Amino acid sequence: MQTTSFSQYNIPSIAWVSPPPTTTILHHKITSSGSLSRVLAVASLTATPSRHQVTHSMPPEKLEIFKNLESWVSESILPLRKPVQNCWQPIEFLPDPSQGPDEFEQEVRALRQRVLGLSDEYFVLLVGNMLTEDALPTYQTVFNTFDGVRDETGCSPCPWAIWTRSWSAEENRHGDLLRTYLYLSGRVDMLMIEKTLQYSIGAGADIGAENNPYMGFVYTSFQERATFLTHGNMAKLAKEGGDPVLARICGTIAADEKRHEKAYTRIIEKLLEVDPNTTMLAIGNMMKKRIRMPLHLMYDGQDPNIFEHFSAISERQGVYTSRDYAEMLDFFITRWELEKLEGLTSEARRAQDFVCGLPCKVRKLENRVKKLESRPVKFSWIFNKQVRV
Ligand SMILES: [Fe+2]
Ligand SMILES: [Fe+2]
Repeated sequence: MQTTSFSQYNIPSIAWVSPPPTTTILHHKITSSGSLSRVLAVASLTATPSRHQVTHSMPPEKLEIFKNLESWVSESILPLRKPVQNCWQPIEFLPDPSQGPDEFEQEVRALRQRVLGLSDEYFVLLVGNMLTEDALPTYQTVFNTFDGVRDETGCSPCPWAIWTRSWSAEENRHGDLLRTYLYLSGRVDMLMIEKTLQYSIGAGADIGAENNPYMGFVYTSFQERATFLTHGNMAKLAKEGGDPVLARICGTIAADEKRHEKAYTRIIEKLLEVDPNTTMLAIGNMMKKRIRMPLHLMYDGQDPNIFEHFSAISERQGVYTSRDYAEMLDFFITRWELEKLEGLTSEARRAQDFVCGLPCKVRKLENRVKKLESRPVKFSWIFNKQVRV
């Protein structure tokens, strides 16, 4: 028995303002009501899995704000990049094929020996995390939908665009390293993993940011912190399971995520300073519609509920839980000093009240959720072996 909780990175949908202004496309999520997972059971209490997509919700006059912040980005955000010469690279954590064949084979054998103590559940989570990293083309695409900060040419000298490209280049190492480690481990079905990645990049992501950079940067702040916590917890489990190298890998990735979290959090902090009403509304809006994990449309060609099953294991293993979500909310409320904001419009004040009261609501909801029996589910990523969700 375990406490059922919210789907990964989800929070309850509680109305506090009128519906958004324009809607265009209805977005569909692959689900199967026949095999309702424990997480979906909770999601049905909190938010619907599909919603209308709103586009370009930021008024054009706000573009000026982002233009005026360009020099601030150069001074305060770009220094958070790590110069390439000081960055780690995946090969530093992997068996080095440039050695003699005997040494290389020995290192691969040692790697395969080290992972023997890690559970199948751990590998499902590592694959899900790797895929989340490796679907990077989706995220760079989404970033470049944000009005006022997008990379207009693919190599724009605009500081916002320089940040996005550098961020993407740093992130690219995460998926590369985890994928190669998984490949060498021999514990996972690479063909199914590769298919999942192709399906998932093809499906894209609906983060609900409405091309709106205020909302987009709220999302990225939460997302970076969530990945920081996730990789950090995976590092702990790897250490306990007897693989110190994998622990170092996950810990090193977590440190990158922490630095990225710092950048996006700083952007929201600045936006709260120059435009508190719009920023507060954006935070409220994103919290209301819930922050969804970017790979929520993942699919392996077999299990229509693979994302929910993956999320349930994450909750069960304590890698990313609804408690973490409530703690993240507390963290950002404190970090952005949302309770102290003054002089807001009545609409922004309602958003402020909503957001500041949310951690308590999330915790209450978590306590109300019924305990369900765990059940076995097959995962294609581990050769259709069963794990309990
Ligand atoms: Fe990452
Ligand atoms: Fe990151």
